[in-house]
Amino acid sequence: MYRLAIDDLEAGYGAVKALHGVSLEVRQGETVALLGTNGNGKSTLMKCIMGLLKPSGGSIVLEKDGERVELTGKSTHEIVALGVAMVPEGRRLFPKLSVRENLLLGAYRRGARGVIEHNLALCHEAFPVLQERSAQLAGSMSGGQQQMLAIARAIMSAPRLLLVDEPSVGLSPVLVKQMVDTIAAL
Ligand SMILES: Nc1ncnc2c1ncn2[C@@H]1O[C@H](COP(=O)(O)OP(=O)(O)OP(=O)(O)O)[C@@H](O)[C@H]1O
Ligand SMILES: [Mg+2]
Repeated sequence: MYRLAIDDLEAGYGAVKALHGVSLEVRQGETVALLGTNGNGKSTLMKCIMGLLKPSGGSIVLEKDGERVELTGKSTHEIVALGVAMVPEGRRLFPKLSVRENLLLGAYRRGARGVIEHNLALCHEAFPVLQERSAQLAGSMSGGQQQMLAIARAIMSAPRLLLVDEPSVGLSPVLVKQMVDTIAAL
């Protein structure tokens, strides 16, 4: 069993408050979408879950196989080790490394190293272009291909909870539909 429960979360940047008492739950197998206008706090919420921003109040609890872990106060690498991965806004790939090298870097965490071949096959099945272009530099891939690579790199960390910030940005309507379908299938 794997479940994320966010309760009454408050966060911001100095004097700017961005989250005002956010509560939400993500249960195993569920897909949850955050919708909102620009600047209303979607990325901020994901940064809090990943430990990239420290909330000023509230809690983020991960229930993992009977264990309850409070994520606020944990470092990002500890949170990744618990099986949470994020595809950040703007993708943040390594442009001068190849597609394959970007994917392998996604498998850096200890729990993912033993399942590299399995996850690589999963990524190639979800996004065949990444196999065809495995030697191409990430920075020379098209915008949509880079989005696929960013998601695949996160999958390489063998996550049980995948956070994708702006999965459809820069994609054509056809690719948006494909991306949403692929995320659902994953
Ligand atoms: N590093 C930062 N320093 C100061 N303020 C910030 C910072 N990052 C975000 N904010 C502010 O926090 C609020 C929430 O921003 P956030 O990026 O979470 O919005 P969002 O919902 O992801 O928007 P978008 O749809 O445009 O990506 C905004 O008012 C934004 O200006
Ligand atoms: Mg955002």
